[in-house]
Amino acid sequence: MKIVLAKLKDAKDIAKVEMNSGYWHDKSFDALQNSIKLLKDKKETVLVAKEKDNTIGYISFKKIGNTADLGFLAVLQEYQRKGIGLALTKASIKHAKKLRCKKIILSVNKYNLRAINLYNKLGFQVTKTEEKRLGKKRYVKLVMEKTL
Ligand SMILES: CC(C)(COP(=O)(O)OP(=O)(O)OC[C@H]1O[C@@H](n2cnc3c(N)ncnc32)[C@H](O)[C@@H]1OP(=O)(O)O)[C@@H](O)C(=O)NCCC(=O)NCCS
Repeated sequence: MKIVLAKLKDAKDIAKVEMNSGYWHDKSFDALQNSIKLLKDKKETVLVAKEKDNTIGYISFKKIGNTADLGFLAVLQEYQRKGIGLALTKASIKHAKKLRCKKIILSVNKYNLRAINLYNKLGFQVTKTEEKRLGKKRYVKLVMEKTL
């Protein structure tokens, strides 16, 4: 497995990973448009995990001032629990440091325990909770941070 910076041609593969990671998406979520938007945004760093030519995971973060804001992280279901999510997050931390970020932040659904466990493992700490609304649905997000 190798982790490399994503290119625009990875858009379809990234969308496939996102839709096959077991994450719940709102009906209106367009995975391909989302990945194209990410890859075209100069402030975003997008990394992909590849096994031979197969894209099996991805992560993205946006540099805002001295902060890296982690956006998406997903691993194909059949490749989960093999350390790929951890490796992608560690690679983001390394890239964020290279970009002179001082802090890395993210927001995660309170019930997404597999992601929360992963972030805890890397030393992220919960700094606040936020209540969000998506249509009629209400959900609680944890904001987590790590100083770099
Ligand atoms: C969250 C996600 C990226 C983890 O990827 P992964 O490659 O399976 O994670 P890893 O194998 O690197 O696991 C690292 C740690 O995360 C935690 N973890 C991962 N999967 C877990 C699970 N099913 N249950 C509990 N903890 C879990 C564990 O602490 C694990 O360490 P351990 O294996 O030593 O116990 C993956 O489950 C996924 O794609 N989920 C859907 C998308 C998502 O929720 N993204 C996060 C949005 S904020």
